[in-house]
Amino acid sequence: MASIENRLPMDGVGNDVGGGGSRPTSTVQTRRPGDTFEETHSTSPVDLVSWVVGGMDLAQVRSVVDLGCGRGRFALAVARALGPDGAVHAVDNNQRYLDELDRRAQDAGLEIETINADILDELAIPEGSADLVMLNFVLNLMRGPRLDRCIDRAVRLMHPDGVLHVTAYGRHHMADVYDWMTEALILVGLPPEDATRRTRRMAAAVPPFTLGVGPERLRQHFDRVVLDQFHDVLEVTPNEVDVLLGERTYGSPRFARDLPDGTSIVEIGEAIRGVMRSRTVNGLLPLRCDIGTLTATGRIDLD
Ligand SMILES: C[S@@+](CC[C@H](N)C(=O)[O-])C[C@H]1O[C@@H](n2cnc3c(N)ncnc32)[C@H](O)[C@@H]1O
Repeated sequence: MASIENRLPMDGVGNDVGGGGSRPTSTVQTRRPGDTFEETHSTSPVDLVSWVVGGMDLAQVRSVVDLGCGRGRFALAVARALGPDGAVHAVDNNQRYLDELDRRAQDAGLEIETINADILDELAIPEGSADLVMLNFVLNLMRGPRLDRCIDRAVRLMHPDGVLHVTAYGRHHMADVYDWMTEALILVGLPPEDATRRTRRMAAAVPPFTLGVGPERLRQHFDRVVLDQFHDVLEVTPNEVDVLLGERTYGSPRFARDLPDGTSIVEIGEAIRGVMRSRTVNGLLPLRCDIGTLTATGRIDLD
């Protein structure tokens, strides 16, 4: 289990975000994360779950919809927090995840209704019925009209007094990793300026929905949006980063394009692992983490 040390100074406390609009209703606040870092998101060892759910006001919440629930870490934690009076619906289009969620819910004695569906389609959940809709690490997967549609779907499911809860990444979430990649590309023979340009290009390909643009996006539907940021330095093992990036990033042919002749993806992987190993202290790498939640309330019905 990874642990946290060397906390970065918290910033942005009380700053307005999304600036310039006529409804100055977004705020930024920071909260310290929970102390136990045992759950995983992908392979990152952040115990986001207790941090995220611990920060929710569930006093008025009875009906919850978790859109893109995955294996259900958030749905399970919310169901546990609500107790037997809560009704939790968990939606995903991956049946394997839902099966796992069902099993975990049963083991924990919790009742969660799992629904295999595309969250962009109409769901078998009445519109306007949810006190809380969650979109955790889902909007960053959506682009263009799909992103709009996903937000629209979530809003429609909500009761007018309900809460939309979004978890997302900040703009600099992977900054350290890109630095390690740059170094590795130089090691396999790329001129430093090419290596830097290349990883900058990757870093520039941020998803359309981040903590930076998220508040403005949600203000199109809500009166009030609060951004709650988690800024920290996590200690992770090189292997955790390797598993997280591995095939998706330096394992992809796109990453290997324009490399010096004869350089293989295997070599790049090895170089990145070497760089990470050289940065570890007692087997752990410090990794800056830029994650947050957006809580949107005061639904605006435009039509
Ligand atoms: C990054 S995972 C996040 C899972 C979970 N919310 C969490 O934070 O642990 C994104 C999830 O969204 C699901 N998903 C993506 N697009 C979807 C869609 N159009 N309909 C239903 N589920 C979708 C994926 O199957 C995956 O489980």
